[in-house]
This record gives sequence, C-alpha cells and structure tokens, in this order.
Amino acid sequence: MKPQLTDKWALVTGASSGIGEEFAHQLACKGMHLILTARRESRLKELAEKLFQLHGTKTVIIPADLSQAEAVDNLIAEIRKLPDPVTLVINNAGFGNVSSITNSDLKHLLDIVEVNISVVTRLTYEFLPDMIARNDGGVINVSSVTAFQPVPYMSVYAASKAYVLHLSEALWAELYETDVRILALCPGPTKTEFFDKAGAASWLSKTFAHTSSEVVSKSLRYYERSRPICIPGIKNWLLSFVSKHASRKRVVWESRKVFHNLATGTKSKTKADE
Ligand SMILES: NC(=O)c1ccc[n+]([C@@H]2O[C@H](COP(=O)([O-])OP(=O)(O)OC[C@H]3O[C@@H](n4cnc5c(N)ncnc54)[C@H](OP(=O)(O)O)[C@@H]3O)[C@@H](O)[C@H]2O)c1
Repeated sequence: MKPQLTDKWALVTGASSGIGEEFAHQLACKGMHLILTARRESRLKELAEKLFQLHGTKTVIIPADLSQAEAVDNLIAEIRKLPDPVTLVINNAGFGNVSSITNSDLKHLLDIVEVNISVVTRLTYEFLPDMIARNDGGVINVSSVTAFQPVPYMSVYAASKAYVLHLSEALWAELYETDVRILALCPGPTKTEFFDKAGAASWLSKTFAHTSSEVVSKSLRYYERSRPICIPGIKNWLLSFVSKHASRKRVVWESRKVFHNLATGTKSKTKADE
C-alpha cells in the first residue's frame, strides 16, 4: 500500500544543498510539511520561502551542526515541541574526504563517523518508536554505493556508509510485519557539492554522475514500494553486484585505482608491479 504523505511532516537533515535540498522539493511537491536542518541557515531560509511559494507547505528550520552532540539534543528537543508527529525521517546529512588516512585530519575523520553514523543511529532510534506505535511512517537513510566495498583513500567514509546500509537492511527486516518502512538509498556519483567539499572537485567531471533529482525520485518510488535498498542507475547496480561476487582482494584492489592518483599525486601501481 502506498504511504499517505500529504499533510504529514518529514525531517530532512542536510537540506541546505544537493540530495537533501532535492528531497525537500520532492516531498513538498507531495504535500509534506518539512523540518529542515543543516548548518547554513540562510540557505534553509531561502529554501523554506521557495517551498511555500511553490507548494504552500509549512517549513520549520532548525539550524544545527550535527557533529556536535548538544546540537543533536537540541534538534530532537525542538522537534518534540512541535504539535504533529514526524512521519518520515530522511537521514541525509553526510560528508567524506578523498585522502590517505595519514594525510587526513583525525578530528575530520571522527566528525565523519559522528555525522554519518552516530546521528543516523540516534535520529532513527528517537523517531521509530512513535512510528511503530502509529504503524505509520518510515526512515530513508542515505548510504552510498561505496557501502558495498572498502574504498582506499575514502576508507572512513566508505566504512561509515557500509554501517548505514547494514543498519537499514536489518531494521527493514525487524519491521517487516509493520507498515513502517526503512530504505537504504545507495547513490553512486551525484552532481552535488559533495566532491568539492571532499577535496576532489575535479573527479565528478571525469565520471558518470546522476542528478539529485534522478536519485531522489527513484528513492521515493522504492520507499513507496517498501523496498529495503535503492541503488539508482544500472552502472551503480552492476558495481554493487560485482563487489558482492568478486574476491574481496580483487575488489579492494580495483577500488584502490579510483582515487589513488587523485589522493597521492602518483601513478597507481598495476597488479604486475606487486
Ligand atoms: N554526491 C555524491 O556523489 C554522493 C554519493 C553517494 C552518497 N552521497 C551521500 O548523500 C548525502 C548528501 O550529500 P550530497 O551529495 O547532497 O552533498 P552536499 O551537497 O555536500 O550536501 C551535504 C549536506 O549535509 C550537510 N552537512 C554536512 N555536514 C554537516 C554537519 N556537520 N551538520 C549538519 N549538516 C551537515 C550539509 O549542510 P551544511 O554544510 O549547511 O551543514 C549539506 O546540506 C551524504 O550523506 C552523502 O554521503 C553523496
């Protein structure tokens, strides 16, 4: 059965750009009211005005740096004060870096773990019980195709997305007998600010990338059908398929080639050089 979204409330984290901003647009288009969070308040305000003009929907803005535990506490407390329940949580905020582990800043890596793992776990935990009690609602956790294999030079990021994938699949099965839906969205390269911020601005132009609009519309179709995983794009689906069926050593070696040159400034060794 299709979920009823009109006139209900969704929380979208990381709504100030990219995939999160697109979720806000597509959900408002379906008549949902939105709670938007991210650090860049001015972007959220602009978006809220646009959504009201286009769709007449309500928006509550709660700016927060989700790497800070107190900001997450405050976000949850503010949401609890609202009169209506949250029917859909989009755990989208996230970031990564393209660099070797030794050239990465430890605080940056730990913030990736905090935002991509801890906050996703916390928000899922906080809002699920009420959804289960009402037997209505769900969570879309934004993972990545990097969840299907280790990714050298994006090691912490890819591992964080594997966590999100496994968490979501497990909860999908736990909640199978309810009408509450859990979806792991696993996009491949997508045209957003992600790679600029990850220190690999040039990479996106060298690879095939989807638009946020394609990624979000496909994920909402999968959410409506109660599917556990959405991998937008046949190339990305094939990549995940090969990752599951080839040897782990082969997979990680092939994966190493993707970012080696970019991250180290040196040419990647071939298998014959080993
Ligand atoms: N683009 C890709 O190729 C790709 C592929 C697979 C998966 N993904 C995933 O898709 C999700 C969205 O990323 P995107 O591609 O749309 O990139 P993006 O345009 O950089 O958006 C990231 C969003 O996360 C928010 N965010 C980051 N750190 C935050 C923090 N500490 N506190 C609060 N909000 C924070 C940003 O807002 P502020 O900066 O305003 O705080 C922004 O709204 C991420 O989880 C990413 O891992 C992206």
